[in-house]
Amino acid sequence: MGHSLAMRTAAHSQEAGQAYVMNGGRPVEGRVTALGAKNLATKAMVGALLSEDPAILTNIPAIGDIAMTRRMFDSIGVVTDLQGDRLTFDPSQLSSAKIAIPDSRANRIPILLLGVLLHRLGEAHVPLVSGCNIGPRPLDFHLEAVRLFGASVETTDDGYSAYTSGKLTATHYELPYPSVGATETCLFLACLAEGTSVIRNVATEPEILALITMLNAMGAQIELDANRMLTIEGVDQLSGAHYAILGDRIEAASWACLAAATNGDITVAGIQPTSLVNFFGPFNAVGGGIEVLGESSVRFFRRKPLQRTMLETDVYPGFATDWQQPFGIMLTQADGTSVVHETVYERRFGYLDDLRRLGAKVQLEKKCLGSRPCRFFERGHAHSALITGPTRLVSDNLRLDVPDLRAGLAYVVAGALAEGRTILLNADLIERGYGNLPERVADLSLDLTEAT
Ligand code: EPU
Repeated sequence: MGHSLAMRTAAHSQEAGQAYVMNGGRPVEGRVTALGAKNLATKAMVGALLSEDPAILTNIPAIGDIAMTRRMFDSIGVVTDLQGDRLTFDPSQLSSAKIAIPDSRANRIPILLLGVLLHRLGEAHVPLVSGCNIGPRPLDFHLEAVRLFGASVETTDDGYSAYTSGKLTATHYELPYPSVGATETCLFLACLAEGTSVIRNVATEPEILALITMLNAMGAQIELDANRMLTIEGVDQLSGAHYAILGDRIEAASWACLAAATNGDITVAGIQPTSLVNFFGPFNAVGGGIEVLGESSVRFFRRKPLQRTMLETDVYPGFATDWQQPFGIMLTQADGTSVVHETVYERRFGYLDDLRRLGAKVQLEKKCLGSRPCRFFERGHAHSALITGPTRLVSDNLRLDVPDLRAGLAYVVAGALAEGRTILLNADLIERGYGNLPERVADLSLDLTEAT
């Protein structure tokens, strides 16, 4: 380990909480159940606040982001009750428009509460949001949407404040890019606005379709038309949310990559196979094997020696940016040079430095190494990568800093692949998105324990 890395990890382990210890280099086999999707569960909680009737949400994942969202709800007067995976709350308790969250590392949820609080209380005060460090992640589309629906919004030192003197009014808005979060903001704003809104260039991820399904079941009038267009007829009120959260397709894809990368065999339960439709193609192309075992269970394995591929991430229905990291780690075991072009985030290759330390042959490029139109063309971001394999990954007690939440499970794939002992620092980031992993992987032959 280089001197600077040693100093960095020593400093880090003093401040970072949890760490996982992994012993890798063997095929990983067994069974795991994917949690409910984080990126639907938290949004469904927010959407449920549009009604004043009690909400019942099931298949809620026991993860840090849910705990954080529950604390935000506490701060606005809405007490939530979580029994197993069933979350209930009474949105009529809403009494404050100011989200106060004690956590220094906030998630992306507060900004989504702007529309809901404006409808319910006529004002909203939410903190600055951060989320994972994978690019600048601006909020301009959200703020523009709030203004277009007739509210005023200002950026203060510690967050955003929005006001409306009357009912919000419908609008027409074409999103500059199909942002997941901004599409959700528009949905929340439009559901109870006066008149018919037309939102173009929206994101259509499975979690968004599920959110629309939930809102329509509450009485909203939302239509998804061709060409990424939403037409939303505002209604006066909504009934309570009763909804089961779909399985986490990002988690499922990470287990799939773990199975194929280690030449193992993993059955993932709790997942809708159709939500993985555009993962299956590239996974097959590389040599992964897939057996759909029913409505909610898929077996993943290695069908043949893995081979190089060319991959580009994109908004849905493209290959999800959140699948890119575990997939990239799997590609270290594929024969030849694979090309990965990341078109959603500027900085989603942070994990390659650590992969290199484990022995991977990787190279970053600022060029667009792909054919899809890309917002980062000639903007100097290192957003393409070349990954050459197959390489034997080895770790002699290497300490790796998990850089962001989704990369977390990708680091678990790397730790399982690398022969020897690997220590994953910042494991609390993994727990924020995937819960108590050592307990959850009990039925997998994965040697992962929490450091004491
Ligand atoms: N963007 C803007 N302006 C905006 C909003 C977005 O320029 O006002 C840009 C972003 O900078 C980014 C792109 O649009 O380059 C896409 O961002 P998007 O808004 O779609 O992302 P998000 O809603 O903040 C969600 C997920 C991410 C996932 C992305 C893309 C949540 C909480 N997060 O983020 O998942 O990568 O969509 O699918 O839903 C995670 O789960 O940890 C995670 C990072």
